[in-house]
Amino acid sequence: MSEQKVGLEIANGVAVISIDNPPVNALGHAVRAGLVEQLAAAEADASVRAIVLACKGRTFSAGADITEFGKPPRAPGLHEVIERFDNCRKPVIAALFGTTLGGGLELALGCHYRVAVESARMGLPEVKLGLLPGAGGTQRLPRLIGPEKAVAAIVSGKMIGAKAALADGLIDAIVSDPVQGAIDFAHTVDPAKLVRVRDRSDKIAAAKADPSAFEAAAAEATKRLKGVEAPAACVEAVRNSFTLPFDEGARAEQQAFMRLVVGDQSRAQRHVFFAEREAQKIPGIGPEVKGAKIGRAVVIGGGTMGGGIAMNFANAGIPVTIVETDEAALSRGLDRVRGTYDVSVQRGALPAGTTEKRMALFSGSTDWGVMAEADIVIEAVFEELGLKKEVFARIDGIARPGALLATNTSTLDVDAIAAATKRPGDVLGMHFFSPANVMKLLEIVRGKESSAQSIATAIAVGKTLGKVPVVVGNCDGFVGNRMLARRTIECERLMLEGALPQQVDAVVKAFGFPMGPFAMGDLAGLDVGWRIRKHRGATAPVSDALCEMGRFGQKTGRGYYIYENGSRVPTPDPEVEALISEKATALGITRRAISDQEILERMTYPMINEAARILEEGIAIRPSDVDVVWVYGYGWPVWRGGPCFHADLVGLKEIAARLEHYAQAVGDETLAPCALLRRLAAAGQGFADFAQDAKAAS
Ligand code: CAA
Ligand code: NAI
Repeated sequence: MSEQKVGLEIANGVAVISIDNPPVNALGHAVRAGLVEQLAAAEADASVRAIVLACKGRTFSAGADITEFGKPPRAPGLHEVIERFDNCRKPVIAALFGTTLGGGLELALGCHYRVAVESARMGLPEVKLGLLPGAGGTQRLPRLIGPEKAVAAIVSGKMIGAKAALADGLIDAIVSDPVQGAIDFAHTVDPAKLVRVRDRSDKIAAAKADPSAFEAAAAEATKRLKGVEAPAACVEAVRNSFTLPFDEGARAEQQAFMRLVVGDQSRAQRHVFFAEREAQKIPGIGPEVKGAKIGRAVVIGGGTMGGGIAMNFANAGIPVTIVETDEAALSRGLDRVRGTYDVSVQRGALPAGTTEKRMALFSGSTDWGVMAEADIVIEAVFEELGLKKEVFARIDGIARPGALLATNTSTLDVDAIAAATKRPGDVLGMHFFSPANVMKLLEIVRGKESSAQSIATAIAVGKTLGKVPVVVGNCDGFVGNRMLARRTIECERLMLEGALPQQVDAVVKAFGFPMGPFAMGDLAGLDVGWRIRKHRGATAPVSDALCEMGRFGQKTGRGYYIYENGSRVPTPDPEVEALISEKATALGITRRAISDQEILERMTYPMINEAARILEEGIAIRPSDVDVVWVYGYGWPVWRGGPCFHADLVGLKEIAARLEHYAQAVGDETLAPCALLRRLAAAGQGFADFAQDAKAAS
């Protein structure tokens, strides 16, 4: 079996060992066994002078097989494999191309030399899975590029391009063909002068003498990471590379890896990694349904969302036209886009000259005729059903047959919009999140008529734009906002019952969200929710009163908090505290001290209950899709895996009991656990069991 995964070819004194394990040459058990076997064969063959380690297919290895984590280890482990390469008495050259990641790079670091094609990228992204590189990466990388650069690379998990890798000493040459380049390189090396990476000391000597530069680099790399275990473990491991002998450092690294890999944070992050990929698999839509290629896009409406959506296309190199009602609105929209690029360039986030390059892909028009050329039309006009229907009827008359027609509505009925056209199969929702050029989540709202082809194209477009697409059903708020609405109701109640915005925000931030709900509301603008409430005849005594006072949040300098002199830092405001007390008294509520635990439960459990309803109704395909929505659209901490993953950790029995309690205490029946939550809780099951059953049934 191992022969199938790792091949060996010998010619002119050079043995080429090739991993062949599609799609990403992950280092699963069969690969590891094959490597040991083929390396031994190459070493034993007297005609072999040097060895090239190569990979077949689209990339060098992406690292350990993540699906094996958490299962009983099977020998040979990756350590053992790398040690054998390390101890090989013939020169070994790794031939890198594509993305060389994690254990794949660690394997290459166990070779004597590394050559790469110019487009190759390499990195140790284990931190993104809640781990640290566990096969010697934290010890070998510093010995090649220095501990300061190594700690930055390992804590961020970012990839390094071939040119930078060459400059830093990570690779030894850039070649035009990986295998031939490595073979040519092999002929130039002197087998008598082999130095193993583990024995090199030149790059760690400075840190050994004075670790201050390393400590500064470590502090910089970890400054925004709180509550997360892996980055600190990465720092400690890299520090060991210059404070401990290699073997001791490697042992400590392995121990840290074993500790992290069984922890909830890493489990959560691995869950999200697979959930993101699973979300793109839609039952009933097989791989034979390919997304159509998009060569030109039109976005109708160049406001907050339209401009941001259009930027995604330009960023992906796709020409895009913004259509507006008049020239003034058009130039306002295009100016805002230009301004956003300019700010990124000024901040150094984008290279100089980017604005012009990207703007060259933009055009603007008030003439709807431009739509005839488009492969995709995305509507982002005001949130009014009548207007959207009118717009879609008009698009229908102009767009070419087969073009994808999408609405960015956040609340309206996608079926009603689709019905305004004679081609509802080509219509769906593409719900981007604000700021649309930044936020990764894309909810693809499937109308009852949306065709498989349209869904496949929308998913492909989302991926091309660098988004994380999740297909959801058509209902009020879809998945994300429908759950958020539950949290928003509790926010208002908590204020009236005795909590203050700052207390609630602190609890939600301590849980791991980048922002609390009140600070978030102030940033987004309180008038948005106010308008929606008025439209629906709903009320929120405190929030409505703030809006009546003109306190719309950051943009007016006052909201739930006060923002003085243009500051963006929320400062608690006694006036808000007084207002809350006054409203509570008027409603006959005696305010009480509310514990942080109660706040956390009410900020999460009602949303989890709504997730269960969403699953019950088939609005989300699977619980992990809900998790992806919340991680990528709403800042749910990735190391907590999303609401459904988190719920399973807490236990649905506990959550159902608490919801029962709150339903009675607050007097709101909708807080009581829904039928699905009740059923799973009673059976001692979790969302994971529900997902498994659903998969088995389909
Ligand atoms: N193990 C198992 N499966 C993997 C995998 C891995 N390391 N990396 C990717 N896959 C699977 C994906 O789940 C996906 O499977 P499906 O087609 O069934 O959904 C398939 O390979 C293709 O992956 P992508 O859709 O992500 O393909 P892409 O071309 O967009 O991206 C990639 C390729 C950049 C390699 C990306 O998959 C990636 O980032 N992979 C993870 C890399 C990583 O984190 N490696 C470190 C592993 S941990 C480690 O190595 C620990 C250690 O130190 C010992
Ligand atoms: P906006 O008010 O900033 O922009 C709307 C733009 O549409 C304006 O520039 C207007 O001139 C233009 N417009 C109106 N009628 C038009 C027509 N007939 N033809 C061409 N252009 C027309 O609104 P925003 O915030 O960009 O919202 C747009 C859509 O996106 C709405 O459906 C909204 O619900 C949705 N949305 C908004 C989010 C947000 O956070 N602002 C998030 C996700 C979706």
